[in-house]
Order: sequence, then C-alpha cells, then structure tokens
Amino acid sequence: MLDKPRKLLVTSGLPYVNGSPHMGHLVEYLQSDIWVRFQKLRGQDCIYVCASDAHGTPIMLKAREQGVSPEELTARVTREFVDVFDEFDIEFDNFHTTHSPENEALTIEMFEALRSTGDIYTKTIEQAFDEKEGMFLPDRFVRGTCPRCKTEDQYGDACENCGATYAPTDLIDPVSVLSGSAPVKRESEHYFFRLSEYEDRLRTWMREATLDKNILAKLEEWFEAGLQDWDISRDAPYFGFRIPGTEDKYFYVWLDAPIGYVSSFKNLCDRRGDLDFDEYWRPGHDTEVFHFIGKDIMYFHTLFWPAVLQGAGFRTPTSVFAHGFLTVNGQKMSKSRGTFINARTYLDNLHPAYLRYYYAAKLGPTIEDIDLNLDDFVARVNSDLVGKLINIASRCAGFINKRFDNVLGDSLPEPGLFAEFAAAADAIANHYEAREYSKAMRLIMALADQANRYIDDNKPWVMIKTQDKVDEVQAVCTQGLNLFRSLMIYLAPVIPSVAADARAFFGEAEWAWSNVKDPLLGAHIEKFRPLLTRVETAQVENIVEQSKHSKEGSEAVTEDESDTPTISIDDFAKVDMRVARIEKAEAVEGADKLLALTLDLGGAERNVFAGIKSAYEPASLVGRHVIVVANLAPRKMRFGVSEGMVLAAGPGGEDIFLLSPDDGAEAGMRVK
Ligand code: MSP
Ligand code: ZN
Repeated sequence: MLDKPRKLLVTSGLPYVNGSPHMGHLVEYLQSDIWVRFQKLRGQDCIYVCASDAHGTPIMLKAREQGVSPEELTARVTREFVDVFDEFDIEFDNFHTTHSPENEALTIEMFEALRSTGDIYTKTIEQAFDEKEGMFLPDRFVRGTCPRCKTEDQYGDACENCGATYAPTDLIDPVSVLSGSAPVKRESEHYFFRLSEYEDRLRTWMREATLDKNILAKLEEWFEAGLQDWDISRDAPYFGFRIPGTEDKYFYVWLDAPIGYVSSFKNLCDRRGDLDFDEYWRPGHDTEVFHFIGKDIMYFHTLFWPAVLQGAGFRTPTSVFAHGFLTVNGQKMSKSRGTFINARTYLDNLHPAYLRYYYAAKLGPTIEDIDLNLDDFVARVNSDLVGKLINIASRCAGFINKRFDNVLGDSLPEPGLFAEFAAAADAIANHYEAREYSKAMRLIMALADQANRYIDDNKPWVMIKTQDKVDEVQAVCTQGLNLFRSLMIYLAPVIPSVAADARAFFGEAEWAWSNVKDPLLGAHIEKFRPLLTRVETAQVENIVEQSKHSKEGSEAVTEDESDTPTISIDDFAKVDMRVARIEKAEAVEGADKLLALTLDLGGAERNVFAGIKSAYEPASLVGRHVIVVANLAPRKMRFGVSEGMVLAAGPGGEDIFLLSPDDGAEAGMRVK
C-alpha cells in the first residue's frame, strides 16, 4: 500500500462547441482517462476535470448560422460531448463550461492581478474590418493573394504554398470570408499581456516541468524567435466575457479557455465541499497538476498559460503532456473516404472497449501522430482482446461453473506462474505512469500468451474425461482464471467496463492494483458470460459508409434547415413511411439512449432501436401509434439489428417528441 497518496489534478483540452466529438478528440480523452483510472486504481487521490470551450468568433458565427444563441449552441453541444464521454467510459470528476460565472470571476481576477503588476497595457492596432458585417475579422476569415509568392486564395495568417506568415492586412486583394467584400483597415485599442518579460521565468518553469523533448525543442525555437507580447482582447461583436471598464471589448477566447481548467475545479470544490481550492491552485503545495493536450495547442499551454498563472499569483502546471494527431488508414480524416468518423457513429456500431484498447496499444508519450488503421483495428482487437484475453476465461470458466458448483479450488497448482504475473506489476505500472501505453499493452499480452500456453499444456478438456483427473481440472481452471483476473486488473484502466464485468464474475466488490498479489481461492464465482465478442468487418464497413453520409461536425444536429439541399418528389417517394403500433418497448442493457421497440406494421413485425430513452418511459409507449420509415436498409448496431426508424422531433434529452398520427390511423397504413 502507498504511505500517502499523491494529490493529482488532471485535465484534458476543452473541446470547442462548434463541432461534434470525433475519433480525433477521443485520442486525447482516452489517453487522459486511462492515466487517471490508472492513478485511481493505484490508490492515488486523482481528480479529473474538463469543460466545454464556448467562446470565440467561430462559435458565435456557428450559432448565428444555426439560428440559435451561442448559449444554446453551447448547452446542446456540451451535452453531446458529455453523453459521448459517458458512453466511452471517460469519467470526469467534473465537466463544466467556460461560459460560466466561475470562469468569468476567475478570468477577471487573473486579469486584474496582471494589470496591477503592470503586465497588461493597451495599444492601438490596425486590423481588417468587414464594413458589411460590421465586425473585425480574425485572420482566418480573410483570404487573398500571398504577398510573397503571389499564390491566390490564401488565409490571412499564412500561405499554404510558400509558408510565409503575415498579417491579413498584408494580403493582396483581400476579401472577407463572411461577406465577400474587401475588408478595410481600421484602428482599435487592444489589451496586451507582456509575455516578452517572461522568458526567464518560463525557462525556470520548463526546467522543473519534466517536459517531453519535442516540447522542449519547440520552446527553444520559440525563445530563439523572441517572445512577442500577446493580444488578449477582441472587439464586439464577440462571444466571450466583457473586459471590465469597457463597453465593447472582450477577452480573447484563449485567455479564458485554460482558466476553464481552474474554474471547472472551482465548480467542483463548491459542489463537493471537501476540497481546498488553494491547495491545488496556489503556489507552495505538493499537489500536482497535469494538462493533457494535442500538439496543435502547445504554444498556448507552455508559454501563455504558465506565464499568466505565474504573473497572476497562481501555481504553474507540474507538466504538460502533448500527443500527436489522429490519422485514419494513414491519411488525414476525410469525409469523402468515410474516415471522418464521429464518436456517435462509432458508438452506434461498436463497443467502446475496442477503441480504448486499440488506442492504448498504439499510444506512446510523444507527439508522434497515431494511426487508426481499420483493418489492423479489426485484426488487433480480435486477436488480442477476444482471441487471447477473453479466451483464457472462456476456456476455464465453464468447468468451474458446471462441474465444480461455481467454486474455485483452494490452492494454485503453479503458484510460481501466478507470482510471475504479479512480479510484472511494477514494470506495467511504470509504463502507464510514463504514458507508454503501447509498451504496457505488449507486456500484458505477452502474459496472456503465457496463460494460454499454460492451459494448452494442461488441456482441462481432456483431463475432464479421465475420472482420476477431475480434481486437477478444478486446479488448472482455478490457475487459469486467476491469471485472467490479474490481467484484467492490469487492463482495468483501459477497458473499465469489461474489467467491471470480470470483477462481478469473480464476485468481488472492488479491485485495486495490489490485488494481483493474492490469488482468489475457494471463492464462489458467477456464471460466465462472454465479456466481448469479435468485431465483424461488416460493422467497420458500416461505420465508414455511415460516415460518408453523416454531416460533419455539429451540423448533424442543426435545427436550421435552410442550408439542407432540396430533394425531388421522386426522392421523397422512395421513403416508405408507415403507421406502426408499438407492441413492446424495453431498455437496452449497456445503452444509455436506446429503447428496443417491437413494432407491428399491420401484420409484419419489426425490431427497431430508437434513441428516445431520455424522453420516454418504455411502459408508456406500448400501444401507441407512431410513424416509421419502413424501407430503411437494416442496420447492424452494437446491440442487434435495427429494421427501420421511428420518427421524432426535438433537440434531445427530455425534449424528444414522437410523431404520432391522429386517432383512427391503424398499423400498416401508408403515410402520404
Ligand atoms: N478549445 C481548444 C482547447 C482549449 S484548452 C484550454 C481546442 N478545442 S478542440 O475541440 O479543437 O480540441 C480539443 C482537444 O482535442 C485538443 O487538445 C486537440 O489537440 C485534440 N484534438 C482535436 N482533434 C484531434 C485529432 N484529429 N487528433 C488528435 N487530437 C485532436 O483546441
Ligand atoms: Zn506564398
């Protein structure tokens, strides 16, 4: 046991609310969730917080485009992320949003603190202004000809052809992406943070923070280029927090976004009552703070953020862990290839444990990109998780269940082998700690091979046929199951729901890392159910197919139909809509949103999964008439095949409304 648990606070990058969660995001949230679960399993006191990132121009415009307020967009997409995290077993202690009172108060507090030390000053700058839209344009919203190489249609911050970086006002023939008009130059007063004064303090921090060598190299590069003061204000219209003492100036999203880590923690403190805020966020305590981020946002987290914290009298992060970007089948995610995969599409088809394991098997501690190769995914998951791991239990459990009254033997026939598994605990733990997950997985799978070899050598299925060897079967299976149990404890951070099922199978209430030291003997175990089934290639093909057709980003849930392309009456006539009577409705085990419906379509019976659980009690649905799309191709989902779609309207959650015909309509009637 540990003498004194470490106090850790872990964060993941805060997702913007102008897009839906996708497979790329999941690299980050799974990487950090595995680390947090590992720490908790080892008995550390570890808190994991996150929030949605609500502010900035793109989000303001996205909301406008959808005809909702930014607050509404934030609420809806935040819920989308929370649901997906939940279903992927990503377990935050708190998930808040940056558009919160706590965040506003802390942002103002830090700003005032920096201002009082002279680290904030104002300066008038010239910027591109769209007269038609009445707003200043962020760099990315201006396009034009590169001033250096003269390539047309380049963004306002950098040229994709020659790599030149410049201000949007330097472009030749610039146009506003918003209105298509030529922007004019206009002056405005901005607030700046004196980052240029922080080089020495940042160098001190970077020596203490044990950063990855890639990050250190980047920092060195940035120092060499010379630190520039940082523009932290934006003019109205802007979605963000207004700067005190101004009418129309707002904090730039990247000032208040990382403060979202602190304010999410503050919100947790207020809710829990047993946490000391200062212990985590003021200097001079032995708590540790770690940020998991993607390599694209290193600048913000290793320069601005530690400098702001230092200047404002807060503690700095213990370390910042950056990971690489996701590619699918070796290329950038692409909608047309069907490899821009939304988290929801994955969940509709596959168990989260597969992806959690696959990413773990690929992840290391560096900023190298990671590839999701779909063929390799199927092969790896089937061979490692199903073929090696679950197989150990499948080969042993039946005998204990059927022939030994569910009771494990009283001793291990090969305690040495069990001890060998236990002896791997430190090496595996060190790999987890260092975010060398792929190394940890390799070690664990090598042990799984050993366990399978043990069973192969002893062949309980042969022994059971020989009368005087029956007791040995119990012993061999007890050994096999105990090896399986140790492996499951080692894998609990990676595949928590499968591990929880395995733990329940062993009849144990809780597992800790140290449980691998002592075998489970003489215990009553439960009936074994296969914990995971093989991934079928067809399921992955489904995902790719669905991803080609699903709308990218949060457009998938847009309520504004205005930009949906029209279809012809012939297209519409292809949709066979029918009145159906709900015969049976029940919750689906393991699915948070789905109800399984049995429908009567006027003689024909259909099974349909509908994502309406948050709005309807299953019992209240029986006997109701609804409208279904009857000629939708059957879809294989994680929980079975869905043979149609029930129509409903509404934003989600409790607000889902089934479309029902008036009285008199009968099952089977065609909808015209
Ligand atoms: N809102 C900012 C982060 C603010 S943190 C104070 C942001 N949001 S994001 O939604 O674009 O990304 C959230 C996190 O997911 C980032 O750390 C980002 O690096 C990561 N990823 C987003 N897309 C990714 C891939 N395609 N691959 C791997 N990680 C990716 O950045
Ligand atoms: Zn150029």
